[in-house]
Amino acid sequence: MGYRDTYDCWRRDPTGFWMDAAGVVDWFEPPSVAFDPKAGVYGRWFPDAVCNTCHNALDRHVAEGRADQPALVYDSPVTAIVRSFTYAELLREVQAFALALRDLGVEAGDRVVIYMPMVPEAVVGMLACARIGAVHSVVFGGFAARELATRIDDAAPKVVLSASCGIELSRVVAYKPLLDEALTLARHRPHACVILGRERLKAELVPGRDHDWGALREKALAALAGGRESPCARLAATDPLYILYTSGTTGKPKGIVRDNGGHMVALRWTMEAIYGMAPGEVFWAASDVGWVVGHSYIVYGPLLHGCTSVLYEGKPVGTPDAGAFWSVIADHDVKVLFTAPTAIRAIRKEDSEGRQLPGYDLSGLRALFLAGERADPETVRWAERLLEVPVIDHWWQTETGCAVAANPLGLERLPVKHGSPAVPMPGYAIRILDGDGQPCGHGEMGSIVLEMPLPPGAAVTLWNADDRFRESYLASRPGYYDTADAGSLDEDGYVWVMGRTDDVINVAGHRLSTGLMEEVVSAHPAVAECAVIGCRDTLKGEVPCGLIVLKAGVSTDPGLVADEVVALVRERIGPVAALRRVVPVDRLPKTRSGKILRATIKRIADGEAYAAPATIEDPTVLVEIEGALASK
Ligand code: COA
Ligand code: AMP
Repeated sequence: MGYRDTYDCWRRDPTGFWMDAAGVVDWFEPPSVAFDPKAGVYGRWFPDAVCNTCHNALDRHVAEGRADQPALVYDSPVTAIVRSFTYAELLREVQAFALALRDLGVEAGDRVVIYMPMVPEAVVGMLACARIGAVHSVVFGGFAARELATRIDDAAPKVVLSASCGIELSRVVAYKPLLDEALTLARHRPHACVILGRERLKAELVPGRDHDWGALREKALAALAGGRESPCARLAATDPLYILYTSGTTGKPKGIVRDNGGHMVALRWTMEAIYGMAPGEVFWAASDVGWVVGHSYIVYGPLLHGCTSVLYEGKPVGTPDAGAFWSVIADHDVKVLFTAPTAIRAIRKEDSEGRQLPGYDLSGLRALFLAGERADPETVRWAERLLEVPVIDHWWQTETGCAVAANPLGLERLPVKHGSPAVPMPGYAIRILDGDGQPCGHGEMGSIVLEMPLPPGAAVTLWNADDRFRESYLASRPGYYDTADAGSLDEDGYVWVMGRTDDVINVAGHRLSTGLMEEVVSAHPAVAECAVIGCRDTLKGEVPCGLIVLKAGVSTDPGLVADEVVALVRERIGPVAALRRVVPVDRLPKTRSGKILRATIKRIADGEAYAAPATIEDPTVLVEIEGALASK
């Protein structure tokens, strides 16, 4: 079936569609009903099924003849290590680590926070949690101690998994001191921490609390060899598999909760229908396990589908050069690469002629998929010319877990419209509404909303915060999920996603909250008020830019305060925030009711034409802002 028939099939009978899709999962007890509209916040998928995600990702493939096929290929240019794990080997590692977690007292339903670099042990940790029914919450390594502490307090983990260090382009990032600091900042106390010691930097272990990963692994492997079993827990399909924190409008991150059953059904469907992958083939998502792309397409999607997944600990440029991605594709026979447009822009910036490419055999590559931010047409065209494969923009969010709109190569290759992530996937009926909640016409910009209920695989709620889920996503447009993205639908049903309607910005494909940055900037003792906005950036898509007004009577040089603010954001939120530009101004543009005119500031910062809003208190301030931004 092509795209249209498949989509219509879902539209006619959504529950029948997903029940059919559920047939590929190896259930312990299969679902007898697809959807219970009365359960949970908005209904729950496969309410009476029993399953285990780790069983489907590993055990079943070993049992079905994939024991010797590589499951995970770790390619780490920053350590010069390339290591492949077969399905049997990965299963063994996961069985062992699941035992280690059990011995630390972790049971089904307990949370485990994972704060780790891109190493195989991070994947082992996630799958071991899935095996015993513990709920993992991976925190991206680029976040600082305070952000880690916020997540630890919200998830209240029994155990934290971490490593001595991560390896970035310019430096070795010592993770362990960040974890120690987070644990002094957090109110919650985990029972134990398990620390992976890496060659480049050893970590000091806190007696009684910290355990050495290697030692626990050895002990558990010996127990397995001695006949101890490490079974998969029998979990309800509706039990949580993981929590993944993502930025929202306020400083407090949202803990997106993903279930076991719906997640498996959705991801398996996408591997075939969207990415066109067959079991046994190699899939590479060049992202990080700390982001949703890493969860869905480094770990779960490829493994559930019996593919080989590449885990890449490196960058698109600098490890060692702009040919790094082509080298990984050639070395591991990657069929589909998935990354963020910013990575392609980084390569293009260094090697616009594609001089690196001819050195590598990319004949196996079938497609490049892009997501995480809008794929600008220029970058897409450049990649198309260079790679001579379809370059597919697709649109999704941490909340949805997989694509809302895509060009589903596995079903049919639809015409590409540069700048649009194409058409809605089964599960999603996209509508564009104006400010009064009325439908917009073709090509008219409005809020992008999705008809409820959300399909399998989408967020089921926010951790311990059902009401916040309702308020954040469901309250503003009754009957719809509000994506907080703005855009339009054209006459062919293609969606055009143009940007966020809230305080979220996308910096190098990383989702960040300007609201959180403003909280930190305001905490500087010399700052009276501030505004942080996302400015256009040719490499990272967007970068934050801060305007600060100093308190009356502050005699410190404003430039010095700006530098301190930059340092404060890096210290409190982490390097990933990438706030480098902070501009002191005498006052901020506001409406007569006192609201800061952030959208107007953004237009000025982006060098776009702007008009003073009718509600502005004093239009002359805009000229001052223009001058200040032009000088820094
Ligand atoms: N642990 C610790 N620090 C990290 C980190 C991690 N896992 N990831 C990033 N950082 C640090 C970086 O070292 C950098 O620090 P610096 O300010 O000291 O240089 C900072 O956070 C900002 O990182 P980033 O935004 O990634 O910028 P960059 O200049 O290091 O790299 C790109 C730019 C485009 C090469 C990079 O962002 C990239 O490869 N992006 C690919 C897309 C991607 O992974 N998207 C995720 C969703 S799909
Ligand atoms: P994240 O939750 O980190 O995946 O970020 C989700 C947000 O990134 C979306 O709400 C969009 O604003 C943006 N985004 C992701 N993919 C795309 C895309 N293909 N086109 C436009 N925006 C995108």
